[in-house]
Amino acid sequence: MEKRLKIGVVGCGAIGSSLAKEIACNMRDCACLSTLYDIKMDRARDLAGKIGCSPGICVGSLRELIKRSSLVVEASSAMASWGIARKSLSSGSSIMVMSVGGMVGHWDELYKLCLKKKTMAYFPSGAISGVDALKGAKAAGIRSVVLTTRKNPKAFSGVDYVKKHFDLSGIKSDKLLFKGDAARAVKYFPQNVNVAAILGLAGIGMHKTQVRIIASPEVNRNIHEIEIISDAAKIFTRTENVLHPQNPKTSFLAVLAAIATLRQILNPVRIGT
Ligand SMILES: NC(=O)c1ccc[n+]([C@@H]2O[C@H](COP(=O)([O-])OP(=O)(O)OC[C@H]3O[C@@H](n4cnc5c(N)ncnc54)[C@H](O)[C@@H]3O)[C@@H](O)[C@H]2O)c1
Repeated sequence: MEKRLKIGVVGCGAIGSSLAKEIACNMRDCACLSTLYDIKMDRARDLAGKIGCSPGICVGSLRELIKRSSLVVEASSAMASWGIARKSLSSGSSIMVMSVGGMVGHWDELYKLCLKKKTMAYFPSGAISGVDALKGAKAAGIRSVVLTTRKNPKAFSGVDYVKKHFDLSGIKSDKLLFKGDAARAVKYFPQNVNVAAILGLAGIGMHKTQVRIIASPEVNRNIHEIEIISDAAKIFTRTENVLHPQNPKTSFLAVLAAIATLRQILNPVRIGT
C-alpha cells in the first residue's frame, strides 16, 4: 500500500511547476506527485513531460485531482483559490494555498470546514520575513503592524488604480502610491495581495494592518519591510526579493517558502513557530 503523501498540484505556472518538480524529484521518500491539473491542459502535459512523469498524472478536472490527492497544492489564481480550498477540504483532502488573497472573507468558513473534516489548511509565509515572530508576539498583544512595499515603477504598469491616479513615466525619486489598511491594499493592488493577506491573517486582521506602497526607480527587486510593535518585542524585517525567472510578478522566495512548508508537513520535527 502507498504510504507516501499523495500530492496534487492545481495550476502549472511558475509556482506550480517549481513545486511539482520538487515533489517529483526531491521528496520521493515521503511524497508522490499524484496529479497535475491546469485549466490550460497543455500546461499540465508539458510540465509532466519536463519533470519525467507519465502523462497519466494529468487530469481534466479539479474533482479528479482531489479524488487522487491527500494534499492539494493550489497555485492558480486568487479568483479560483477559495473554491479549490472549499472543494478539497469538503472532500477530506488537506490544502496548501498560494493565492492567499482569495481567502479574505472566507476565513471563518475555512476554519469550520477544517475542524469538521479533520483536514489541514497551510499558508506559506511567501515573500516576506517576520511571520514567525508576528505569530509568537500575538499572545502578548500587538499594537501595530505596518508593511512598506517598494517596487520599480515598471512593476505597477498593469495596475488600474495606478493608471487612474499617477503618471510614473520618468519619475526620478520615490512616489507614495498608497497608504491605508490591508483590506483596501488588496483591492487596489492585486500584485501585493498575497503579502498583505498573509500579514493580515497571521496578525491583527486586514483592517488593522497598515500598508504603504511606494514606486521607487532606484530598486530592481521587490522589497518588503515590516514593522511590528508588540508588548513582547519591537520587530523590524526587510526582505529584498529576486524575481522568479519564469514570472517576474512572483518573487523567487515565495516558491522556496512553499517548498519549506511542504517539507515541514512531511517532517516529524518542526523548527520555528
Ligand atoms: N503566497 C505567495 O507568497 C505568492 C507569491 C506569488 C504569487 N502567488 C500567487 O500564486 C498563484 C500562482 O502564481 P504563478 O506565479 O505560478 O502564476 P502563473 O500565472 O505563472 O500560473 C498560474 C497557472 O494557473 C492556471 N490556472 C488559473 N486558474 C486556474 C483554475 N481555476 N484551475 C486550474 N488552473 C488554473 C493558469 O492557467 C496558469 O498555468 C497566483 O495566484 C499568485 O498571485 C502567491
